[in-house]
Amino acid sequence: MPFDRMPLEIWFDEYQFEVDYDIGESGTKFLTVKELDIDLNEVELRYGYHLGHPDLRKEIAKQYKGSTFNNIAVTTGASEANFAVIAHLVGPKDNIIVEHPTYPSLFQVPRSLGRDLTLFKLDWENEFRPDMDKLRKLVKPNTKLITLTHPNNPTGSVITKNELKEAIEIAEEVGAYLMVDETYRDLMFDTPPPLAASMSPRAISLTSMSKTWGLPGIRIGWAVADRPIVEAIRAIREQVTICNSSIGEAIAKEVLHKRDEILPVIRKAVISNFKIIEEWMNNQNWLEWIKPGSGVVGAPRLRQGGSTDELCKTLVRKYRTFTVPGSHMELDGHFRLGFGGNQEELISGLEQLRRALGELYS
Ligand SMILES: Cc1ncc(COP(=O)(O)O)c(C=O)c1O
Repeated sequence: MPFDRMPLEIWFDEYQFEVDYDIGESGTKFLTVKELDIDLNEVELRYGYHLGHPDLRKEIAKQYKGSTFNNIAVTTGASEANFAVIAHLVGPKDNIIVEHPTYPSLFQVPRSLGRDLTLFKLDWENEFRPDMDKLRKLVKPNTKLITLTHPNNPTGSVITKNELKEAIEIAEEVGAYLMVDETYRDLMFDTPPPLAASMSPRAISLTSMSKTWGLPGIRIGWAVADRPIVEAIRAIREQVTICNSSIGEAIAKEVLHKRDEILPVIRKAVISNFKIIEEWMNNQNWLEWIKPGSGVVGAPRLRQGGSTDELCKTLVRKYRTFTVPGSHMELDGHFRLGFGGNQEELISGLEQLRRALGELYS
């Protein structure tokens, strides 16, 4: 059972710390402990509850209509929840349908486990929108899980409430589950669709403190699901991580408690950054994109076509600017731009990008 490294993560590990301008990250500006101003002095550095501290789970449950803290499994990032849900629901003879492109672990985990994996492709021609007629045709009698990611990483495409309803119906018709990676949902530019887990017991919501909240270093994410799935996550994670970091949980609890205070500030910064990148895209001739519908990432491509590998490598090596080549996310010909970070860094990074494009393609 081979677990290969993910090209996206190899790229991050190699270059993200080597640059001055990061315009490839898929989250908002990273926060520091100092900026958070949370007193951690009394946090006991002990093993925690295996499903997450009840106070944190209660705080999380407030967002999910119809769910209680019994439906919440807090995990080491959304990544651990993703792994556990797939490992539990998709057996050796089962099929899983994964929307593609997406954050690679969503399809890499079933690949590593040797599961029957069907990719549900988002196409440029359809503005990267999820086509439910296409999804319906992909479902097999042995499909046990369908996963979607919206707002999507790396395309920024969004899903409507009706499409979500239809996806749940498609899953339910074959007795499968629908898992929606809602990591970017709080960064919807308009009203978001309902949280998947609040729509059906067959729907699972997956999310994280990493992206919207700029806190990937605390490694806190969660799944909201029917109780047997929550129990399965607990069994799996007890063999891997046992419980969460107590420091991470303490920070997540405080931040979520102040959600109504903090989120508008983050959203305002993201929307202001989006205007900058939108204007930048409108004022150059090398690239084209499907404008992201929400979130903090987009996936432009070269108007002249071809690979973006050379561009991304030149950017890191010569211009000290970080983006992500599409080939590292199985989206050849595109590359990922992130606009969630520091605004000055975004402006400088885009200027570097203009120089690199001029050097390579003028
Ligand atoms: C859509 C999506 N889901 C999940 C993850 C994993 O995040 P984490 O494990 O930090 O919560 C990422 C990370 O890039 C992502 O983009």
